[in-house]
Amino acid sequence: LAAPVLTIDGPSGSGKGTISRLVADALGWHLLDSGALYRAVGYAAGMAGLDLSDTEAVTRCAQITKIAFRDPKDGGETRVVVNGHDATDELRTETAGAAASAIAAIPGVRAALFERQRGFRKAPGLVADGRDMGTVIFPDAPHKVFLTASAAERARRRHKQLKEKGLNVTLASLLHEIEARDARDAARVVAPLKPAPDAVLIDTTGIPVGAVVARVLDLLRPA
Ligand code: C5P
Repeated sequence: LAAPVLTIDGPSGSGKGTISRLVADALGWHLLDSGALYRAVGYAAGMAGLDLSDTEAVTRCAQITKIAFRDPKDGGETRVVVNGHDATDELRTETAGAAASAIAAIPGVRAALFERQRGFRKAPGLVADGRDMGTVIFPDAPHKVFLTASAAERARRRHKQLKEKGLNVTLASLLHEIEARDARDAARVVAPLKPAPDAVLIDTTGIPVGAVVARVLDLLRPA
């Protein structure tokens, strides 16, 4: 019997990353941050000097890039190691997000990451965070959530996150970038950002993190 999966999809800044981590910790389940895989491929392609619109070269890059997640022993943030280099800091910038979104529209890149993502499904269970977790990667997941929030709130959250990490960006430029990235993610032909028909929609605008986590955990409790 396949391990249970909870998919958490939604646009950037909807709270997916934070909520997924907290829910996975509460359940003692594994976590898949699928956005980090796309960011890692975008980063590796950039390091290799590839033109991101060269679909064949970028697809090849997605096939051969080594991506590993490492949890530091002190319980700190998960590190993302790309081809042997700890790229965690480079990957969180909005530039890396935009590169990820560009290469994520290439069907060959998505195909290259398909089985890798499914490999994260292991006992006792998996929380999968992304854009197409409930629609494409784990369509048979027993639990699906789609998080939303107003664009203004999503930009505010990303701004706070980036500032805390010492990155200097203006709220206005971030709002603009987030709207452009979401529009591209929603409009692409392969695996566009959209809720699975059986996903529970949660609007997190103005709702504290703890309340969203409680709401999600409630969905997993047998009735
Ligand atoms: O979630 P995160 O902001 O890290 O994702 C970066 C980009 O990777 C997204 O804007 C999207 O284009 C792409 N992505 C995707 N499918 C996923 C996860 C992320 O296309 N499952």
